[in-house]
Amino acid sequence: MEKFNICVVGAGYVGLVTGTCLAELGHRVVCVDSDPRKLKALKARKIPIYEPGLDTLFLRNIREGRLHFAASVDEGMHHQGRRAQVVFIAVGTPPRADGSADLSAVEAVAEAVARNMRDYTVLVDKSTVPVETGEWVSKTVARHNKKGVAYDVVSNPEFLAEGTAMNDFLKPDRVVLGVTSPRAEAVMRKVYAGIKAPVLVTDVKSAELIKHASNSFLATKISYINAVAAVCEKVGADVTLVAKGMGLDRRIGDKFLRPGLGFGGFCFPKDLEAFYWISKQKGFDFRLLKEVKDVNDFAKTWVLRKVEENLWNLEGKTVALLGLAFKPNTDDMRFAPSVDIARMLKDRGVRLRGCDPVAAANAKALPAFKGMVFCRDPYECVKGADAMAVLTEWEPFRTLDMKRVRRLLRVPLVLDGRNLYDPAAMRAAGFTYCSVGRP
Ligand SMILES: NC(=O)c1ccc[n+]([C@@H]2O[C@H](COP(=O)([O-])OP(=O)(O)OC[C@H]3O[C@@H](n4cnc5c(N)ncnc54)[C@H](O)[C@@H]3O)[C@@H](O)[C@H]2O)c1
Repeated sequence: MEKFNICVVGAGYVGLVTGTCLAELGHRVVCVDSDPRKLKALKARKIPIYEPGLDTLFLRNIREGRLHFAASVDEGMHHQGRRAQVVFIAVGTPPRADGSADLSAVEAVAEAVARNMRDYTVLVDKSTVPVETGEWVSKTVARHNKKGVAYDVVSNPEFLAEGTAMNDFLKPDRVVLGVTSPRAEAVMRKVYAGIKAPVLVTDVKSAELIKHASNSFLATKISYINAVAAVCEKVGADVTLVAKGMGLDRRIGDKFLRPGLGFGGFCFPKDLEAFYWISKQKGFDFRLLKEVKDVNDFAKTWVLRKVEENLWNLEGKTVALLGLAFKPNTDDMRFAPSVDIARMLKDRGVRLRGCDPVAAANAKALPAFKGMVFCRDPYECVKGADAMAVLTEWEPFRTLDMKRVRRLLRVPLVLDGRNLYDPAAMRAAGFTYCSVGRP
């Protein structure tokens, strides 16, 4: 099968995984990033993010000459005399204050690509973007394409999840290709030829909407079960049993029905808001999405509510936060619920201790954790605290020595925001134990 020269612009969680996996499929890939520190690390064969399984493929493909790095689109598209035939946009699309997506990096890349095209080029948007972005990208390229080179814009949304990104990319549930021409479709099918998955070919707008609609749907499922958990807490029912009973219905499925402290990360919160924003701008008030956000904001107040219920006055009390990353197996702190939870507790005069197996370094840089005592491990973290709150379901937290925890805590109060422990066993061990939506 034909292999391509591919340029991936943006070497973050999505771009670096995409570039590495495309190299693994046999293409020659140049990853471009404008962040000099990231680029320096990559060129020194160091991975600037934590993603299980990425290192092996990353090193192998560098060694075998298929994976390269460059500082600019200009360099990346003409790397060592080879012209890029396919360019992926994988830059960030962060939220603006009003909830809309900031697409200025996407525009900058489109312009740079237009200036560097010498022959037919497929420009692929992999970043998550609102519907109609493809049209804007195409207009931008047309404006700066002074030599009139042929090109196509493709929407190829990415569905990987941090922590399982390699597997998600190489064995996806589906590959979505939003295309405007058979020529672009043929190229994209060859790019993904090594991947066994259903390929859904659509128009560009539908592909863009598939991504926003999918993430918003998953966020809705999480908020739904969190709302059910709130009802369970009121009436003394067990949300895990309710979720199990729901999940056995194949029309519903058991995924994304685990109650907790709300969703976070760089995708769900911003994509939900951006989908709401673009729908409204186009004339539909998608109020359901507003409710999903409200339920999520409420879920994030769980720790504060439980601390208040159990410890009376909060000023001067100490809470140990176990886990800071928005989910396990990632160092990503962007929009992590722990950020809001820490801020709420601090605003009420609570002293914080915290630990995380890999995200601590990223957390240290955030203002929400200023003044928090960062600890090496959960035992050091709970020492002398008035409560232990589990915020992230990291595997090592499941098997803590609870006798030791009990001895180290000043008050034996455990707030299990991820339902890791057995309520009866925790009570038998002498804890006051609260979990989400369980009696
Ligand atoms: N993180 C995820 O799990 C995930 C999953 C699916 C889709 N997405 C989407 O993929 C996109 C990227 O997300 P991410 O998590 O990889 O973000 P990221 O911040 O980790 O990576 C983006 C990278 O782009 C670089 N960059 C920004 N502007 C640039 C420019 N003009 N030229 C070159 N490089 C530039 C940044 O330095 C950064 O390294 C977003 O739209 C996101 O919504 C993310």
